[in-house]
Amino acid sequence: MTGTIFGIGVGPGDPELITLKGARLLGICPVIAYPAPLEGESLARRIAAPHIPNGRVEIVIRMPIEASRFPAQDVYARAATEIAGHSIAGRDVAVLCEGDPFFYGSFMYLFAKLANRYRVEVVPGVSSLTACAAVLANPLAARNDVFSVLPAPMNETDLTARLETSDAAAIIKLGRHFAKVRDVLERLELTAQARYVERATLPAQRVLALNDVDAATVPYFSMILVHRRRDAWL
Ligand SMILES: C[S@@+](CC[C@H](N)C(=O)[O-])C[C@H]1O[C@@H](n2cnc3c(N)ncnc32)[C@H](O)[C@@H]1O
Repeated sequence: MTGTIFGIGVGPGDPELITLKGARLLGICPVIAYPAPLEGESLARRIAAPHIPNGRVEIVIRMPIEASRFPAQDVYARAATEIAGHSIAGRDVAVLCEGDPFFYGSFMYLFAKLANRYRVEVVPGVSSLTACAAVLANPLAARNDVFSVLPAPMNETDLTARLETSDAAAIIKLGRHFAKVRDVLERLELTAQARYVERATLPAQRVLALNDVDAATVPYFSMILVHRRRDAWL
C-alpha cells in the first residue's frame, strides 16, 4: 500500500487556526515536508510545531521567499522525488503550506508533479485573506461587490486599472513594493479606505495606518485591504 501525500493548510500564523483535520493528520503522519527560506526558519513549520510529535522524518524544501526569481521548479522536482519515495514505501507524508494550499500556496507545485501518480489529498486551511479581514475588523466584501486579489509586484498602470474597477481589494506580497502601492492608493484617493497589517495572527502582528508604515521595513507577510465604501456593510 502506498502512503497518502497530504497538502495541509496550516493557516496564517496562530497554531489554533489549523483545522481539526490538519492537526489530526500532523499527529499521525510519519514524514513532514515544508518550504523554508534559503536561511532560517520555516514559517509553516513554526506554525504547525505544537501539532508535530517529536521524532518525525522532516524534508526541508529550501528556496527564496520570492520564488519567481529562482528556478524553483528544480527544487520542487527534487522534493517531489523524495516525497514520492516515502509514499512508495507506504509512509504518509504531510506537506505543510502556510495559509491555504490552493490560494497562492507553494503546495500546488508539488501537487502538479505528484497528483497524477500518487494519492494526494488537499486539506484546506484558513487563508491570510480571511485572517487579515478578522484582524483588521474589515469584512472583505458584501452584496454584489467585486473583490480583487492584487499582487503588489504588478506594475503601477495595471494596479491602478484593477483598483479602479474593483469595489474592494486585497493587495498581497507587499514587501519592497509597499511605497509604490501606497502612492497608487493616494492618487486614487483610497488611502482613508485602506488598512495595513503585517504578520497577522502571529506574536509579531502589527496593524498600522498607511502613512505610519516605514516602507523600508515592510515584510513579505503583509497585506493591505481596501474597500471603496471603507466598510463593506455600508
Ligand atoms: C504566496 S501568498 C500565500 C498565501 C497563503 N497560501 C494563504 O492562503 O494565505 C503570500 C502572501 O500572503 C499574504 N500573507 C500570508 N500570511 C500572512 C500573514 N500572516 N499576515 C499578512 N499577510 C499574509 C502576504 O501578502 C504574503 O505576501
